[in-house]
Amino acid sequence: MKIAVVGRGNVGGGLADLWERAGHEVTRIGKDGGDVSQAEAVLVAVPGGAIADALERVQGLEGKTVIDATNLVGVEPPSGFASNAEFVKSKTNGPTAKSFNLNFARSYGRLGEPKSTPSNLWSGDEEARGVVEQLNRDAGYEPVYAGGLENAAAQENALPFWFAINQAGLGPFFYRMAPPDEL
Ligand SMILES: NC(=O)c1ccc[n+]([C@@H]2O[C@H](COP(=O)([O-])OP(=O)(O)OC[C@H]3O[C@@H](n4cnc5c(N)ncnc54)[C@H](OP(=O)(O)O)[C@@H]3O)[C@@H](O)[C@H]2O)c1
Repeated sequence: MKIAVVGRGNVGGGLADLWERAGHEVTRIGKDGGDVSQAEAVLVAVPGGAIADALERVQGLEGKTVIDATNLVGVEPPSGFASNAEFVKSKTNGPTAKSFNLNFARSYGRLGEPKSTPSNLWSGDEEARGVVEQLNRDAGYEPVYAGGLENAAAQENALPFWFAINQAGLGPFFYRMAPPDEL
């Protein structure tokens, strides 16, 4: 699959590495922006408060299948939107999903180690299911469906609870491996 990642840091760069290893062709886009018109799937992995600015610098988004991995740390979604994912859809009018926002990038190099495949939540449009579930599996996760795009806000707002599980030391070891400043 031809994939464009917008944000080439821990998440965008890390997933790009995993997807390239799985045989995909990945274009990496940073702050300078770029063109995604050739991509069959687009991952957005920029700081949550930079999403509007980031998408302004990207051409060819119309109709694209987009996976939004952003989190809202101390910021709100753009005005008028319940979630960053719904803001993304307003810019693309294409299949949109929220995924990869609740698993730590630091664990990407260890996804093959546990005895059972780690899960990764996604919520979003039915039309995005094929792409999202394939790219979850190709990264090393078992995708878990969390409902339609109207549930993306709940998935974005789950982050403090995720931290609480992490800090309580009760979650699977994957969630103990990154300090909060990496989300
Ligand atoms: N780290 C994690 O474990 C983790 C896990 C799940 C979700 N998240 C979420 O995923 C997103 C990315 O996190 P990260 O850890 O990958 O961040 P990061 O390593 O700091 O990378 C951020 C990327 O976003 C780009 N960027 C920053 N400001 C931008 C702007 N105004 N316009 C366009 N691009 C911009 C940067 O571009 P340049 O390359 O040009 O500098 C960089 O490639 C965040 O929303 C974070 O909350 C993080």
